Amino acid sequence: MKIDFRNETLAELATPALAVWGFEDAPAASGTAQELPEGTRALLDELRQSGELTGKLYETTLVHRPAGLAAKVLLIMGAGKEAKFNYSVLGRLAGAAVRALRARSVHSATWVLGGKHRGPQAVEALVEGAIVADYDADSYRSDRSLEKRIDEFRLAGAGEAASDDERGAAERGRIIAEAQNFTRDLVNEPSNRMTPTLLALQARDMAAQFGLDCRALGPTEIKRLKMGAFWAVGQGSEEEPRLIVLRYLPEGAPAAPVIGLVGKGVTFDTGGISIKPAADMHEMKTDMAGGATMLGVMRAVAQLKPNLRVMAVIPATENMPSGKAYKPGDVITSMSGKTIEVLNTDAEGRLALADSLTYAQQQGATVLIDAATLTSAVTIALGNITTGVFGWNKEWVKRVLASADAVGDKMWELPVDDDYRDLYKSAIADLANVGGRYGGAITAAMFVGEFAGDTPWVHLDIAGTRWSNEDKPYLAKGPTGNPVRTLVHLLTHFVA
Ligand code: BES
Ligand code: MN
Ligand code: ZN
Repeated sequence: MKIDFRNETLAELATPALAVWGFEDAPAASGTAQELPEGTRALLDELRQSGELTGKLYETTLVHRPAGLAAKVLLIMGAGKEAKFNYSVLGRLAGAAVRALRARSVHSATWVLGGKHRGPQAVEALVEGAIVADYDADSYRSDRSLEKRIDEFRLAGAGEAASDDERGAAERGRIIAEAQNFTRDLVNEPSNRMTPTLLALQARDMAAQFGLDCRALGPTEIKRLKMGAFWAVGQGSEEEPRLIVLRYLPEGAPAAPVIGLVGKGVTFDTGGISIKPAADMHEMKTDMAGGATMLGVMRAVAQLKPNLRVMAVIPATENMPSGKAYKPGDVITSMSGKTIEVLNTDAEGRLALADSLTYAQQQGATVLIDAATLTSAVTIALGNITTGVFGWNKEWVKRVLASADAVGDKMWELPVDDDYRDLYKSAIADLANVGGRYGGAITAAMFVGEFAGDTPWVHLDIAGTRWSNEDKPYLAKGPTGNPVRTLVHLLTHFVA
């Protein structure tokens, strides 16, 4: 999608589609709808009186050959209640406009920037919202209509030229949105096309394109590092595991902190010997969403270039049953030396993460942030809307939550507390890999945290938020790209 700026007056702007918005109480006399020429506004007033135009959130009203405009089509977006309006809603409005227009085979849209809703933050949200909306998860459909895309998204300043800040913001919005769409593409791939080896190749290509250091460790090195927990998860599969490691070490960046991003990269989770029921098992192709998130974050970081050291560690593996698979009751020794009794081979993510956290610290990470599709329990607690956030270090939990808030991602802190530790005790080993049904997201998180040592650590359980089960006006059904935006914001707004 090409992004550019226009500065003709709205009346003069020759475009296939001009998009404005207005609030629920006064859809024709608020937002950018109020910047339309008088004749056009009179038309909107008529639509409002007839009840067609209400300004309800994501309402799309289309007027062909609108009076007073050179545009072929005028699209009026409902912005909902003014009290609930913010940049995140603004971005979603742009997204909803993109999806409404492409459904009507319009390929070029012009979005009106206006009044107090101009400036870099607005532009970043708009461009991001537009690019993220122009995505569908139907990659393998023969009748996929790639021509139903918005090729051009223009921002119209209505007689006012864009500032350099606004141009920079558009570029940022584009980078972050493309990173999310990259993550979505990876998550969307079925496991026959996204094995650990193929995920590592994707990481290598991306790293080469954007100038990151990337290596992928195979079976020999994983065993040499004594990653007994990560190894156990993959040992039942015909596919070799990979430990994918990416580094962004800009010259002149302070020696500390070194942010270690760890992303669960289970390319398919059958549950192993503790096998999952058939019903929704296909969804487990998305069990590498945490890893895909970190790849997307690194892709954006490489382009946005914060003055901060960042490393990503992604344990990529399948979890399969076979004659070689690990079994319930097995005791394994993690890279940290802690022994683990495997009570359920379906609790594999925490095992892969455990060794990856140890490795990241060994490689110099001084702060750990992991993202993982770790538990169905978090979905019971927070649904598909909100990511669960966990961590002992309140300052870092707060930083993550503040970034989520700033970009409009929904996250909520769930507790970690020593009183839960008894739940994953083992009679035979240091830890058991499950803590029972109750508080399942918490005990899973705490199990992972046991391997963070004293290093500040934040865990994001994205089992619910990695995927949208339905089409939204501003986002296609399928992989969401969560929580790329939050983490990119955290890393690019980092203050020591
Ligand atoms: N990958 C799953 C969690 C998951 C479930 C992610 C649904 C996305 C959607 C994870 O490996 C898992 O199987 N967790 C088990 C843990 C249990 C065995 C303690 C779960 O949540 O049921
Ligand atoms: Mn599992
Ligand atoms: Zn899993």
